[in-house]
Amino acid sequence: MKRVLLVIGGGVAAYKSLDLIRRLRERGIASRVVLTRAAKQFVTPLSAAGLSGDKVYDELFSLTDEAEMGHIQLSRSADLVVVAPATADLMAKMAHGLADDLASTLLLATDKRVLIAPAMNVRMWLHPATRRNLATLKSDGVLAVGPGEGEMACGEFGPGRMAEPNEIADAVERALGEPARIAATHALPGPGTALGPLAGKRVVVTAGPTHEPIDPVRYIANRSSGKQGFALARALADLGAYVTLVAGPVGLPDPAGVTTRRVETAREMLAAVDEALPADVFVAAAAVADWRVATEGGEKIKKQAGALPRFDLIENPDILASIARRGAGRPPLIVGFAAETEKVIEHARAKLARKGCDLIVANDVSPQTGIMGGDRNRVHLVTADGVEDWPDLGKDEVARRLAAAIAARLAGRREISA
Ligand code: C5P
Repeated sequence: MKRVLLVIGGGVAAYKSLDLIRRLRERGIASRVVLTRAAKQFVTPLSAAGLSGDKVYDELFSLTDEAEMGHIQLSRSADLVVVAPATADLMAKMAHGLADDLASTLLLATDKRVLIAPAMNVRMWLHPATRRNLATLKSDGVLAVGPGEGEMACGEFGPGRMAEPNEIADAVERALGEPARIAATHALPGPGTALGPLAGKRVVVTAGPTHEPIDPVRYIANRSSGKQGFALARALADLGAYVTLVAGPVGLPDPAGVTTRRVETAREMLAAVDEALPADVFVAAAAVADWRVATEGGEKIKKQAGALPRFDLIENPDILASIARRGAGRPPLIVGFAAETEKVIEHARAKLARKGCDLIVANDVSPQTGIMGGDRNRVHLVTADGVEDWPDLGKDEVARRLAAAIAARLAGRREISA
């Protein structure tokens, strides 16, 4: 039976961690629980012990525990360490290697992978200190799940809600299922690997479609799923970048370790990108609607026998071109996407010049390719220097390679191979 060491931090979300114990047990995964001092304000050792069927640990210097199981042994007795909720304070301690209580000490002493499920107030989550700590933790190989967006216990709205127990259990299963080789590299980063190649870099990514309202119930849209842009945002964050993802209306969850802004229209997307700038890299992966209706109906347009409504269309702002054409404040590296259904390379080359970007990721989205909405992609990287054709790959793998290519270009290497 697989076993996790579950560190429960002191936050309102701690009650969900009790449910997590149950969800893990259903999947055949046992939990041994450590409560921080603050966690005991939210859940009792008794309920954690009852659910886990094991002793609950909560004091560093308890002599009997030290005799039975020292904190070093405790930190290594599981296949995975899970921190849920990972409070801002616990994340800060982990990022800085502090060890002043049982939870932080065993997190420093462990030789196992660590998965955190952050939960905190939205301002705390968005604070540069927490962003820095998260980037540090990620580059140390710590895995993260959530947080999600929604109404919070403190009455504010935004990212900071702990992922749901089943989502955390999914992430636990994924982490436990990864090959030991990867686990070992993550657990023990070698010298020089402490910071990802994009550490300290700011990246803004757009993704998904936009919806352009016709009236309060109808809109113009397209078939973009947002999958490639979301995967890319995550891959860039994995390399240590501070990523802001400006996402059009899609059903995908916020990627871990990424600041996600949800928007609906092209104009809102441009405003959100502007707010997120300045940045070192801007990646326009969104399929922005080219047009919107000139006058949006305030009321639902009624169907009238024999009379079809007429709409005048006007052009939406071109987000990519407008950012790329900026003098001062232009991000040094700008990546556009070109979704074409014919003459893919030719159109991408023209787009590179027309939009003024540095790199175009071109793909064929004709319906028979299944790329739009699918999980695979076949892309061509088009720059002023030439074209590189990549094989058919999963969108996550395309994202990983693109993130590496972006890091290489930022580092001044011209080659675009990942
Ligand atoms: O012109 P087209 O839509 O084919 O260009 C695609 C590229 O331009 C993508 O990178 C897309 O995100 C960006 N774009 C944009 N704003 C628009 C239209 C496209 O940023 N209004």
